[in-house]
Order: sequence, then C-alpha cells, then structure tokens
Amino acid sequence: MAKLTILEFPDPRLRTRASPVESVDDGLRSLIDDLFETMYEAPGIGLAATQVNVHKRVLVADISADKSEPLALINPVIVEKDGVTATEEGCLSVPGYYEEVERAEHIRVKFTDRLGDDVEMEAEGLLAVCIQHEMDHLEGKLFVDYLSEAKRSRIRKKLVKEQRYRSADAVAL
Ligand code: NI
Repeated sequence: MAKLTILEFPDPRLRTRASPVESVDDGLRSLIDDLFETMYEAPGIGLAATQVNVHKRVLVADISADKSEPLALINPVIVEKDGVTATEEGCLSVPGYYEEVERAEHIRVKFTDRLGDDVEMEAEGLLAVCIQHEMDHLEGKLFVDYLSEAKRSRIRKKLVKEQRYRSADAVAL
C-alpha cells in the first residue's frame, strides 16, 4: 500500500471527468487500498480517485470513528434521491475550508464493489452527503462550486498563496 499525493484546488486536474472502470482487477483493488490508506492518514471520511490524479470512477468512504465501515464504490450511479440536508463540508483538496452545502438527505446508489459484484445500497445523512460529494469529484466538481463566485475566489486566492509559500519553503536557503 502507498500513501498518494492529494491534488489541491485550484489544480486544473481536479476538473477532469473520470472514465468508467471496465474491469475490476488486482490493479484496481490495489488503487482502492491506496485510496483508503491516503484517506485514513489525511484523515478524511471520503476520497475520490480524481483527487489523486487517477481519472477512473472509483471512490472510497468511511464515516465511522474507528475505520470499521470501509466502502469502495466503483462506477457509482445515484438511482433515487430525496429530501434536503445542509452540512458544513470540507474537502481534502480544499484544506482548511468548511462551508455549508445542501444535498439530498437520502440516496439509493448502484455500484460495483471490489469483488466485481453489482450492489445497490441506501444511504442517508452524513454517508449520503459524503457519497454525493465524492461523486461530484468524479465529474470534476468541487464543493466550492456551490458557493458564491466571491467566496470561491477568496478561497482560491488564499490556497494559491499557501501553495506558493510551501513550494518556496522547499528551496529556502
Ligand atoms: Ni472532496
């Protein structure tokens, strides 16, 4: 297993639309293991392959406090959604920023699991929000896209500044 580097907003690679996974093989399972390791170490409750610059329709999530509910969704599709819930969301690709976003409260999602089996699952509350957030990543969409242009641009400027300081540190004499 390996911890992968997470792309940060406004990196244009986060805007890539992911392609469907055609076969669930050992290479894909190894990517899923790496996604879990990267997510747990961050720490976060969800991570999409897009965020580690792999543009395949794969995401992982675990909303438990003790890493006991790992979920890997391959080619996820929401087939039903209802209700509205507002959550303070953050994102490993937008470090340090939390803003309220409205999403469906309850979803039914179809996906392929790591064994290659087709699964249909219901999710509500935080798990439903997490899956919707990660599925947005697969479309090249970020939670900041739900905010006003002014807010998004303020976050972009601050993050670009932080990223510049960080790369300057690497060559400081
Ligand atoms: Ni995210």
